[in-house]
Amino acid sequence: MCNLTGVDCGTYNLICSKRGENGEVKSRKEVNAFLEIPLDNRFTFNMMKKAKVPLIERENVAYVVGESAVSLAYTLQLELKRPMKDGCLNPQEKDAFRILSIMIHSLIGEAAQDKEVLYYSVPANAVNKETDADYHQKVLEDVFKKYKVNNKTVQAFPINEGLALVFAELSHKNYTGIGASFGAGMINLCYSIFSQPVFSMSSVDSGDWIDRMAAKATGESAVVINKEKTKVDLLKSPSNIIERAIQSQYKILIEKTIQTIKKAIADSTTKVKAQEPLDIVIAGGTSSPPGFIELFKEVLNQSQFPLPIGEIIKPKDHLYAVARGCLIAAENAV
Ligand SMILES: Nc1ncnc2c1ncn2[C@@H]1O[C@H](COP(=O)(O)OP(=O)(O)OP(=O)(O)O)[C@@H](O)[C@H]1O
Ligand SMILES: [Mg+2]
Repeated sequence: MCNLTGVDCGTYNLICSKRGENGEVKSRKEVNAFLEIPLDNRFTFNMMKKAKVPLIERENVAYVVGESAVSLAYTLQLELKRPMKDGCLNPQEKDAFRILSIMIHSLIGEAAQDKEVLYYSVPANAVNKETDADYHQKVLEDVFKKYKVNNKTVQAFPINEGLALVFAELSHKNYTGIGASFGAGMINLCYSIFSQPVFSMSSVDSGDWIDRMAAKATGESAVVINKEKTKVDLLKSPSNIIERAIQSQYKILIEKTIQTIKKAIADSTTKVKAQEPLDIVIAGGTSSPPGFIELFKEVLNQSQFPLPIGEIIKPKDHLYAVARGCLIAAENAV
């Protein structure tokens, strides 16, 4: 089999999946964030170099990217910058394109052959905010067009993020079912029949939104909520106001998602009468807390859902499943 690549360009995480020698999927992750160090500040710059912080030097500025940027921002109390916001290129970040290109190219590494086929995830437009998914797709198209390492290039093709989850988990169901990716900036939803999207859409109320809303409700900062979120168990009674706020936002998020899916099914012009019960694949960082799937099933059961429901599947590699799905889509295309 030829060498192929899947890339998930997320608001918080960038992930690249390839096959290893024994056919197993190997994925690499980098946090989609950076810090900018102006080169006129030689002291900070030299200190960082001495401390072996990986720096990327350009004209009059140096960048620290990924995981190193996160730890440094935490230690030095610097503001972490993000190239993407709400699933798309961050309009407030003037260097977003440049940084995103550097990070994605370095994550791909050296392609195994020239014109390597690569599938990358793209979001759908949001139902609750004006987003420009077409523009974002063009930006990513340019990022991949600019890729050239040791004279090797890639041929890159976009795939909807929700559809990538259907590719990751539902080959045995002829790629029929719903993919729901709960990320940082967005929830991406896609209903696919035989790998063809009946509908795809997104909502910008996801992980970052939980952080903001629970922060507002408790008077804490979004950074504190973001940390606390990783300790929450959605099946347990809350033991303090922060847990209560986070759990409540999770419930609202799931209720809204199921309402959005119901409305899309009702509005759909394609016949969506399922012959078989409908499977739903749930992945993404925001679906991490224990109890997420149980809560999703509970809300779904009370929602008078218009179609019979089959399995609710959470892949073991739920943070990496979109990139793996992109890789499987590439394998189906060649
Ligand atoms: N253990 C955890 N518990 C709760 N939330 C978590 C956990 N781990 C990660 N998250 C949240 O998951 C989100 C990141 O998830 P993911 O990597 O799927 O997003 P993304 O693909 O980068 O974003 P998007 O798809 O929206 O562009 C963040 O909001 C983060 O706070
Ligand atoms: Mg994502």
